[in-house]
Amino acid sequence: MSGKTYKIAVIPGDGIGQEVMPCGLKSLHAASARFNFNLAITTFDFASCDYYDKHGKMMPDDWVELLTPFDAIYFGAVGDPARHPDHITLWGSLLQMRRQFDQYVNLRPCRLVKGVPSPLADPGEIDFWIVRENTEGEYSEIGGKIFEGTERETVIQETVMTRIGVDRILKYAFELAKTTRRKRLTSATKSNGIKITMPYWDDRFKLMSKSYPEVTTEQFHIDILTAHFVAKPSHFDVVVGSNLHGDILSDLGPAVTGTIGIAPSGNIHPEAKFPSLFEPVHGSAPDIMGKGIANPVGMIWAGQMMLLHLGEKQAAEAMMKAIDRVLGEADQSVLTPDMKGKGTTQKLGDAIAEAIASV
Ligand code: NAI
Ligand code: MG
Repeated sequence: MSGKTYKIAVIPGDGIGQEVMPCGLKSLHAASARFNFNLAITTFDFASCDYYDKHGKMMPDDWVELLTPFDAIYFGAVGDPARHPDHITLWGSLLQMRRQFDQYVNLRPCRLVKGVPSPLADPGEIDFWIVRENTEGEYSEIGGKIFEGTERETVIQETVMTRIGVDRILKYAFELAKTTRRKRLTSATKSNGIKITMPYWDDRFKLMSKSYPEVTTEQFHIDILTAHFVAKPSHFDVVVGSNLHGDILSDLGPAVTGTIGIAPSGNIHPEAKFPSLFEPVHGSAPDIMGKGIANPVGMIWAGQMMLLHLGEKQAAEAMMKAIDRVLGEADQSVLTPDMKGKGTTQKLGDAIAEAIASV
């Protein structure tokens, strides 16, 4: 009941991004009406193929100045490979934002929600977080190619780990683990094969664990960790990884909890010097675009994460409860086809928005 006003930049983007965004906004408005805060929303048409067709670029030149004043960015999805290659559309928009706004935490909840079938035969209770480093590590532009086209053709790509970069992501993960019921933090590593950067990551992890005696720690090499994600996902609580390891785990995690259509993600700059960006995990899904059957839950859940980030805890709790209730009732006429139902984007979105008003 804060009475506060939050400035939100809304970017629907491409494909089903444009279809699920109205559902996300409807749920957010339902939460703001009930919990007495205001959302000052500005919608932007850039970061889309339509914008690129009109302007020959993905974003206006002053996009940084335009977006910086916002408290958060609420993002649909971008990309349509049939129209423009992904390296132009994604690199020209979303990836620029993550970098420019130093959104060094990529946060993904992985939770098995009642009513959503898991591909695992006996999944147990799955409820964990993946914390991925989002700005450095294996995804660097340092390296190069020499002797191209000759027998000596050579390519080199360097991993970059800075103490600042490693420590701040580990700290975020430890702080998160401190707040959970199980208080367990798992680190993804590969120090048995990658001899310099990964032992460094392990050392910083060990050192920081001394400041968090209440958090139980463990580490696994990424290869066996992926196996554990499938064999015993209920074991995990908070899992932290470098950019590449986190990337792999953050697709695998949501996959064991069912459809990609419900998974949300936050690209977070915790110090709030820049806006953080909240989006569904899925892309623009050109294969189902225009059919009105895209699952809106990932978009709505991303809105829930955004409210939590902004400090609207009660509203975020209500949104989560509403999602759980509507999916848990498993009414076939409401669930979208990816959850084995016959519902539409709008019907499911409306059901959740309505539930937010009353849960
Ligand atoms: P995608 O996530 O768009 O689709 C993968 C599969 O999941 C498709 O069969 C799709 O129909 C299904 N799916 C995805 N979201 C769904 C939803 N909400 N409800 C029901 N089914 C859903 O990934 P894909 O096909 O590899 O990429 C399509 C475009 O999206 C590409 O241009 C890609 O680069 C882009 N992309 C953008 C992302 C972003 O904006 N953050 C993330 C991932 C991909
Ligand atoms: Mg990925």
